[in-house]
Amino acid sequence: MTGNSQLTILKFGGSVITDKNADEGVALKDEINRLAKEVSSYKGKMIVVHGAGSFGHPLAHRYSLVDNFNAEGLVLTHRSVEILNSVVVDALNESGVMAAGVHSMDCFTTTDGRISSSFLDPIHIMLEKGIVPVLHGDVVMDTTKGVSIVSGDQVLPYLALALEADRIGLGSAEDGVLDENGKPIPLITNDNFDDIKACLGGSASTDVTGGMFGKVRELLDMCHGRSMTAYIFNAKIDGNVLNFLSGKEIGTAISDSSE
Ligand SMILES: Nc1ncnc2c1ncn2[C@@H]1O[C@H](COP(=O)(O)OP(=O)(O)OP(=O)(O)O)[C@@H](O)[C@H]1O
Ligand SMILES: [Mg+2]
Repeated sequence: MTGNSQLTILKFGGSVITDKNADEGVALKDEINRLAKEVSSYKGKMIVVHGAGSFGHPLAHRYSLVDNFNAEGLVLTHRSVEILNSVVVDALNESGVMAAGVHSMDCFTTTDGRISSSFLDPIHIMLEKGIVPVLHGDVVMDTTKGVSIVSGDQVLPYLALALEADRIGLGSAEDGVLDENGKPIPLITNDNFDDIKACLGGSASTDVTGGMFGKVRELLDMCHGRSMTAYIFNAKIDGNVLNFLSGKEIGTAISDSSE
């Protein structure tokens, strides 16, 4: 699918905007401000999605929310990721970006952990009116399990398909998807996935949604049978978000095939 809405969707990884090794939420405000500034020079339609980092994963892990319903765990995890969302939205606003927080809990339901219904009307109108919606990894009500964890890595491809995004980027803490020698793999497709999948691990920090393996799988599924490309790149490096937004090839490209 080629989109015609000129929409960019960009994820700020939790490993960039938080101290992901902390046991509880620690926001890296300088990094968030830097990313917000880079985003502020982009004038096209954009959605920002951010990961939960230390605001979501440790709580979700503590309450075993991937496997079990737990009301207290749900409330605390949602509250925690909401706080991170406010920090990101505030930074964007202070940089002159008209951004508004949109909680995944309020616009998605899941069935067995996968988004099965959504309410995106407000996002459509925000985009028409020049507002940047800022979504995030969250706890979401699940029709079978009661609660599930929806990662930013699941939200991003869902929105990219639903809204026909043209440019899709995931900024994380490595120079792309790294091979066994620590070098970024230029292109991952459904054709070479089996050859490189041994290199893909979970996260070095607590991450209940699959780390790099989860990310690549979500993006390959999104691209399957479509002419879409997503980029995984290092958003810790100054200027990389701007490079991505300017249309440069960056990090690891993910697409259905190399043709
Ligand atoms: N082949 C690989 N290449 C790069 N990173 C890898 C690889 N295998 C495993 N990883 C790990 O995956 C991590 C990235 O996934 P992670 O989910 O932690 O990032 P994130 O998206 O920034 O965070 P969040 O999920 O909180 O948004 C890297 O920091 C690294 O520890
Ligand atoms: Mg993750």
